Amino acid sequence: MMDWTDSHCRYFMRLLNPNILLYTEMITADALLFGNKRKYLQYNDEEHPIALQLGGSDPRKMKQAAIIGADYGYDEINLNIGCPSDRVQQGSFGACLMAKPKLVAECTNAIIEAVNIPVTIKTRIGIDDLDNYDFLCNFIEIVAASGCSRFIIHARKAILSGLSPKENRSIPKLNYDRVYRLKSDYKNLHISVNGGINSVKECEEHLALLDGVMIGRHAYHQPWFLYELGILNASHKKSNTTREDIIEKMYPYIESQMKAGVKFKHITRHMLGLYAGQPGARAWRRYLSTHAHIEGAGIEVLQNAKKKLSQAA
Ligand SMILES: Cc1cc2nc3c(=O)[nH]c(=O)nc-3n(C[C@H](O)[C@H](O)[C@H](O)COP(=O)(O)O)c2cc1C
Repeated sequence: MMDWTDSHCRYFMRLLNPNILLYTEMITADALLFGNKRKYLQYNDEEHPIALQLGGSDPRKMKQAAIIGADYGYDEINLNIGCPSDRVQQGSFGACLMAKPKLVAECTNAIIEAVNIPVTIKTRIGIDDLDNYDFLCNFIEIVAASGCSRFIIHARKAILSGLSPKENRSIPKLNYDRVYRLKSDYKNLHISVNGGINSVKECEEHLALLDGVMIGRHAYHQPWFLYELGILNASHKKSNTTREDIIEKMYPYIESQMKAGVKFKHITRHMLGLYAGQPGARAWRRYLSTHAHIEGAGIEVLQNAKKKLSQAA
């Protein structure tokens, strides 16, 4: 997620759950080909497994960008065919590409031929008036014929003019049934659902019918949810990890990153939701957000925020 799932965020999330697949922010093929590759692609080894999400629509450039990503050690290349922003539409990629399945297939095919890691698609159930099951099936069939067999479907259509990206994440209605129907008609494809999933129970319900779930905002705003998801797995359950353990595990990371010039606040901004729903959560969030940006801030700010939390609880 743009501006959210940077490398610091993913390091933190990985501490909460060793078994999930993490995704980068969307990076355009042009940015990778002509920009500072290291800046866009560097990550910590601990983040694996990690998928690189690419945006673009030129098969040649997408292939080159995917090769660079695979060389950096990413575990998957994911194509963004779901973003509705004006900027992305001006570049003729993102959700508007649902109307050009052959071009998407050319991109996936070029990438699949060039790299040895899975190539996946994140898309929507439809766009604008192209919002019916047959349209979705046609898109999926053409892209699947290029060799791509894994799809993540945001279960709401994108409205390409008149709504902001934020509105496009809430106003069009969720239609999980269309995703379930897709899986039932294309059993050989790996289909995951995305959109509005906010609890472990909902994940279990989707997983009874589908191959995977992708969670965005809830995982970011309430990251402890990722730990709760992980304790479905018996071996993880025994660890009895606490939120305080996670904070302490962040200390060496924060110190080494700060030595390399990273600002404290750029890491801790991802930790504000750690206590969401717990007594003292507001005190934690308030202390951390107001003190993290002060010149010279370091891990003592996290230690003090923990104290505020226990005082307020
Ligand atoms: C701040 C923000 C940035 C996002 N950036 C991306 C992105 O770069 N690529 C992408 O595929 N989706 C992006 N999304 C959309 C989410 O991946 C997801 O599809 C959407 O939020 C619905 O899922 P959720 O209800 O679990 O959040 C972004 C969402 C948010 C809130």
